[in-house]
Amino acid sequence: MTNTDIKWQQHDIGLSNREALFGHNSAVIWFTGLSGSGKSTVANALEQALVAQGKHTYLLDGDNVRHGLCADLGFSAEDRTENLRRVGAVAGLMVDAGLLVLSAFISPYRNQRELVKSFIPPGKFIEVHIATPLAVCEQRDVKGLYKKARAGEISHFTGISDPYEAPEAADLVLDTSATPLQDSVQQLLALLKQREII
Ligand code: ADX
Repeated sequence: MTNTDIKWQQHDIGLSNREALFGHNSAVIWFTGLSGSGKSTVANALEQALVAQGKHTYLLDGDNVRHGLCADLGFSAEDRTENLRRVGAVAGLMVDAGLLVLSAFISPYRNQRELVKSFIPPGKFIEVHIATPLAVCEQRDVKGLYKKARAGEISHFTGISDPYEAPEAADLVLDTSATPLQDSVQQLLALLKQREII
């Protein structure tokens, strides 16, 4: 729905002012991957490293967002799209606020990740595929959800009874079962430097 009676309001302080104030550029580092693949763990470690360098960050996490902003949504393709539309809009505002936004959402469909990207200015959406194999995620089963999904107690479970469409051109691919956590953090920091974000 677009309301033609609502116009965009221009303000005097913009993104470039905020980036100058913070001393670094803003961006979204979008982690996508299966449940239990290590998205939150890697995002959390990267955030620690960035904050230690004096950067301004915020971590948006699927499990947390679903307690508030998206508490009314389930896991059908439609609900996941709405989940990611809201998160994309919020991430877009946070990027405009000058932050380095780290996000950990399964975001299983390519078109949903494209939708998120549409909220973010060009060059500021960094897609990171946490490509830990399903067998490893299922063996970890940190939250006991794979067991429930296999038993048919949870429907639409990504990787079991729902699809996961891997990115075709991620900016970085990490497998947390093969790469030590701090190596992943170093690769991410190097990528952010190379893209002149930090
Ligand atoms: S997304 O697909 O809409 O991006 P999101 O990242 O917000 O998913 O939420 C995923 C988290 O919800 C998982 O880490 C898991 O803890 C929990 N969850 C509960 N039910 C499901 C399900 N059917 N499929 C995937 N994750 C689920």
